[in-house]
Amino acid sequence: MTTECLEQPRLLVKGGRVLRGQVPVSGAKNSALKLMAASLLAPGVSILHNVPDITDVRTMQEVLEYLGAAVDFTDGTMTIDTSGVRSQEAPYELVQRMRASIQIMGPLVARFGRARVALPGGCNLGPRKIDIHLRGLQEMGATIRSDHGFIEVTAPRLQGVRMFLDYPSVGATENLLMAAVLAEGTTVLENAAREPEVVDLCKFLISMGADIEGAGSSTLRITGVKELHPAEHTVIGDRIEAGTYLIAGAVTGGEVEVTGISPHFLDLFLFKLRAVGVRVHENTRSIKVTGDPASYVAVDVATLPYPGFPTDLQAQMMVLLSIAQGVSVVTENVFENRFGFVDELIRLGADIRVDGNHAVVTGGRALTGATVRCPDLRAGAALTIAGLAAEGCTEIRDIYHIDRGYERFEEKLRALGAEVERIHPEPASPRFR
Ligand code: UD1
Repeated sequence: MTTECLEQPRLLVKGGRVLRGQVPVSGAKNSALKLMAASLLAPGVSILHNVPDITDVRTMQEVLEYLGAAVDFTDGTMTIDTSGVRSQEAPYELVQRMRASIQIMGPLVARFGRARVALPGGCNLGPRKIDIHLRGLQEMGATIRSDHGFIEVTAPRLQGVRMFLDYPSVGATENLLMAAVLAEGTTVLENAAREPEVVDLCKFLISMGADIEGAGSSTLRITGVKELHPAEHTVIGDRIEAGTYLIAGAVTGGEVEVTGISPHFLDLFLFKLRAVGVRVHENTRSIKVTGDPASYVAVDVATLPYPGFPTDLQAQMMVLLSIAQGVSVVTENVFENRFGFVDELIRLGADIRVDGNHAVVTGGRALTGATVRCPDLRAGAALTIAGLAAEGCTEIRDIYHIDRGYERFEEKLRALGAEVERIHPEPASPRFR
């Protein structure tokens, strides 16, 4: 282990506390990032409210600033002035830090006729390809070139076309949507992603003057307009953050209510919580859970594109299933390599066997605290939840992953009664360097 690694902040979680109370959900990361990219489509000042202050948002802010936009981000409101955008290039340093940087490709090629974006490369969730994004742009008449680790997309003006996505990729749907709003003619995206964040993007684009039909369905019909204007928009609540705190409440046998989220965004997830034995109370803009972990039972879960079970809640669900009685099978259908946290969970006492994209979880285990590291963002949240349910202390390392997507994570957990602390280890003394 390097000295640098030893000096990274960590979370210390003392297990066994029962969580109780209300927690406000922040704006959705996966919506805010795309809305920020969409602001590039029109010159002028767009305003976004309910933007979460997380490192992924800060990285997207850097991307926009690198392109020449002026961005102010104060108290959850982001003001983006794109009048000064001159560059159409996203460098490797930013794209490798956050893959969602590739979402500037569609808007840039639509408005400026050119985008040059570093290839994102591999990530912890397996090889995440961008072939659907590129093929779609090509079908709209763009020329794609690849050199020196960059993808360059050029098109004097994109042309509307009817196309079929091989898979309802969230990112590809959004990139193509943002490309199509300024294209000549009508684009029809068949097998489009239906995630609430895609709908939120459609709403923002419509308020900028775009002509889009079918938001929330698998067929999006976009009639290109000559130009768009800046707009003001409030980001929807983060359904994954909401689900994370609900599971935290459930594993501790507490009573946790998340506010600022439509339960409808989490229908299948809530159905599965009920099947486990968690009591779920839904209101228009909040969800409350209560339950007794001793009564929880196994259920099978398979991740799928929306409205299926979200892959971003798979790791957290696995923790709940580890303490439920019986054997559950968790099938990951969205990403190739999303069981990286299982070995860490096993260190806390879980009994899980992975076979390909299936994980067999033998529940009813008493978890005990240990030192673990986060392999990715959602796994980091899951390991923290496991720490809350475990007996003793859990030390979680590589928490920069958690900071990418959870706003004021420890603070929100502490407000519910959790014992969670961020520690900043002293730099190693010269003797150990
Ligand atoms: C988005 C979310 C992520 C979530 C995922 C699925 C953001 C910033 N991230 O990621 O949190 O887990 O949706 O809900 O919004 N694929 C291809 N070719 C492509 C595009 C995707 O093969 O051109 C594959 C990917 O490798 C992956 C699957 O499709 O296996 C899903 O990817 P996609 O829906 O595109 O997810 P992202 O937009 O990257």
